[in-house]
Amino acid sequence: MNTKKNISVCFTADQFEKYADGKSTVVVVDVLRATSVISTAFMQGVQVIIPVQNLDEALEYKGKEGCIVAAERNAKPIEGFDYGNSPFHYINADVAGKTLVLTTTNGTKAIYYAKEHKVLTASYINIEAVAQHLIEEHNDVIILCSGWKGVFNLEDPIFAGSLAKLLLETGSYESNCDSLFASMQLLKSADGNLFTYLSDSSHRKRLKSLNMEDDTRFCLSPPVKSDIIPILKDGKLVVL
Ligand code: MLT
Repeated sequence: MNTKKNISVCFTADQFEKYADGKSTVVVVDVLRATSVISTAFMQGVQVIIPVQNLDEALEYKGKEGCIVAAERNAKPIEGFDYGNSPFHYINADVAGKTLVLTTTNGTKAIYYAKEHKVLTASYINIEAVAQHLIEEHNDVIILCSGWKGVFNLEDPIFAGSLAKLLLETGSYESNCDSLFASMQLLKSADGNLFTYLSDSSHRKRLKSLNMEDDTRFCLSPPVKSDIIPILKDGKLVVL
């Protein structure tokens, strides 16, 4: 009989050092929008995604054969880059086989903070595939919410609640993490309608102010699902 594995939820990238144990599988989520973008880009045929921490590092790849450079700060695209951070950049676009160099306000930072662990990225696009992989792997899990500039956001913990629910339902996991229980309470409160529930959330309002509500709708209720699981290998995200 397998012992139950532990799940914990870390609410912001900046808190990760308090959860890091060097052995858990870390699932990074930035559902609005970085990890949803990562799932979409891989679905559309991008071969490799290089998450980088700053704009200058990303610009070193600008113009390189087969490279797309994408940057977002404060939800806005950055001048001089090929793309911002919308999933729609990659749909019906010539991205198959390309390398995407990506830097965002929070999501790529969370990936960096967790790099000493096995790191997967998740979104509502690949949540079922990620859950199935974790169940088969049977390891402790840390769900790392990216948050917003070091503070709590609503959407990532709700996603954490969705993923934790799928894992706990198997009976193969346990948790003594209040952040996880809070995440599951938030999920219950959302009652299946995340878009409405998040009407007053800071990031949904931020995206709405930039006329990006379609991005929010897509990321919270994606029209398609994917079984692609991005995993971090030598600083690059590749398909598991
Ligand atoms: C982030 O990484 O902070 C988010 O993806 C921001 C965004 O793209 O809206």
